Amino acid sequence: MTKPVFAPRVFSGIKPSGGLTLGNYLGAIKRFVDMQGPKFETIYCVVDLHAITVWQDPAELRTATREVAAGYLASGIDPERSILFNQSQVHEHAELGWLFNCVARVGWMNRMTQFKDKAGENAEGVSLGLYAYPSLMAADILLYHATHVPVGEDQKQHVELTRDIAAKFNHDYKVDFFPMTTPVIEGPAMRIMNLRDGTKKMSKSGESDMERINMTDDADLIAKKFKKAKTDPEPLPETVEGLAARPEAKNLVDIYAALNDQTAEQVITEYAGAGWGRFKPALADLAVEKLAPISTEMKRLMDDPAEIDRTLGRGADRAREIAQPILRQAYDIVGMLRS
Ligand code: TYM
Repeated sequence: MTKPVFAPRVFSGIKPSGGLTLGNYLGAIKRFVDMQGPKFETIYCVVDLHAITVWQDPAELRTATREVAAGYLASGIDPERSILFNQSQVHEHAELGWLFNCVARVGWMNRMTQFKDKAGENAEGVSLGLYAYPSLMAADILLYHATHVPVGEDQKQHVELTRDIAAKFNHDYKVDFFPMTTPVIEGPAMRIMNLRDGTKKMSKSGESDMERINMTDDADLIAKKFKKAKTDPEPLPETVEGLAARPEAKNLVDIYAALNDQTAEQVITEYAGAGWGRFKPALADLAVEKLAPISTEMKRLMDDPAEIDRTLGRGADRAREIAQPILRQAYDIVGMLRS
């Protein structure tokens, strides 16, 4: 039997839980924008069904869903060239997620490090959805036969699980139906760290707002947060190897590189031996130049929520056109009767 050839198709998603951070922008959205073009068909999602694996206030969830959509649009996702929608408007995600709950093994789920981190001491008290979450994520990807998934480092294990689920489904049913998706994890921004503690990931939740840059922060706040970011007393090294044991310094160099479409090596070549008195203001200026227009545009878009909703609705119609036949074939393969 000849192997099917899958057309190059990108799928990725962002949870609308809390606001968007610089980690989401550099690790995900900016790269999604760069992947638009003739090489790939691009599908980007606001994964609202994933958000409710932990409690969300319903009104805040709707606002956060629109805010993630605004973040995509303000950063340059073009809803004509890409398909942009929110997950719950395409019910096929939940249905394929159920099939995958019956394919994935409990032992696989037990190895998911993000679940262990999030559940912490309280593993008995978290929702069943939080535990099953990676199989819904596999469904998001495989519902479109996506071949490439750009994500930050923290999602790598989930994309590997997606490959395991696809392989087991194909093997159990003796088909070549789902592709082996490639995680795309490259560039200097795969793990943007907390500005106050370079050993912790920058995330939406956290004690102090000063530890992260939000995509809605204005120019003054962006500059202030970078100027106050934690550093060490040494100047920047002569080579990137010199950053290895300096997490805060490495993070700021990585952020500069990602914002400026450079490698960390190029940044170090330019700033070798520079003190923080020179590097931090340069970083703050660069960040303001790149991010402030996005936050201004996000605010403008958020002033017209009905327009955002229409854009997501049109994207959902287009997404469903791809998703429906794939789900239908998956149902046929597993033996669901269709009258
Ligand atoms: P989420 O919503 O936590 O994050 C969205 C994207 O942002 C990346 N990211 C980061 N990258 C670098 N540094 C950081 N500090 C940082 N913080 C977040 C994440 O790696 C991710 O790419 N499970 C996913 C959402 C999802 C999904 C999918 C992704 C659901 N279905 C299908 C891809 C394909 C999540 O919770 O991402």
